[in-house]
Order: sequence, then structure tokens, then C-alpha cells
Amino acid sequence: MYGAVFHRQFYFFGPKKRPVTEDELAQHKSRDDCWIAFAGKAYNCSPYMDFHPGGGDELMKSAGEDGTELFQKVHRWVNLERILGPCLIGPYRPNAAPSNNFLKP
Ligand code: HEM
Repeated sequence: MYGAVFHRQFYFFGPKKRPVTEDELAQHKSRDDCWIAFAGKAYNCSPYMDFHPGGGDELMKSAGEDGTELFQKVHRWVNLERILGPCLIGPYRPNAAPSNNFLKP
């Protein structure tokens, strides 16, 4: 119970979230500045680099890119949002986002 409350507070009072485009994501692909998109959200993965059980090199395979598929292939049981919550930058906006759905912003 306490955990859930704390998490919500952290989420809401953390740094302001902002959208990240595909072009911007691609500019952050070094170990010290490694952004990766997972399931429609962009994360700064550098702080997690040394803690990833699979090692930094595995994470770097998706540096500056959308790692959703690879992540799903390797360990779809891992709770990504719980681990990388504090590293969330904001929603990921791929360049070729479908624009024919007028219900989506
Ligand atoms: C797409 C990029 C990623 C690749 C290629 C990758 C690869 C791997 C590999 C190969 C392992 C197995 C290590 C071993 O057993 O020796 C592993 C474990 C693990 N990774 Fe990743 N990983 C990626 C992204 C992530 C992210 C973003 C997170 C956290 C949100 C994460 C969390 C974990 C955890 C918790 C384990 C241990 C899982 C378990 O033993 O059940 N990984 N990863």
C-alpha cells in the first residue's frame, strides 16, 4: 500500500515529462547518453547501464532506437515500467506515426 502511494507521488512529482521524436532519440546512442524507446515511451537508460543483469552491451544494442521487439524477445516478463520509471523522459513519437486516426492526438 505504502509502496503504491510512494510510487504515484514519485511519478507525479518527478521531472516534467515531454515527448521525444524518433530523430531526437537517434541522437542519444552513446553509453553515457543512451536513450531507448520501449512500448511507446522514451527512457534514458544510462543510469541503468551498470545495473542491467544482461550487461550494458545488451542494452546498447537498442541505443537510440525502439527496443520494444528485442525486449519482448529476451524477457517479456520483466516489469520495465517499475525498473525504469525514474528514467522516463516522456512519450515516444516515431516519425512514421500513423496519422489517419483522428481520435489520437
Ligand atoms: C532491448 C534491450 C535489452 C536486451 C537485449 C536485454 C538483454 C538481456 C539478457 C541477455 C539478459 C539475460 C542475462 C543473463 O541471464 O545472464 C537480461 C536480463 C535481464 N534484463 Fe535485460 N535486456 C534489455 C533491456 C532491458 C531493460 C530495459 C530492462 C529493465 C527495464 C532489463 C531488465 C532485465 C532484468 C531484470 C533481467 C533479469 C531477468 C531474469 O533473470 O529473469 N533489460 N537482459
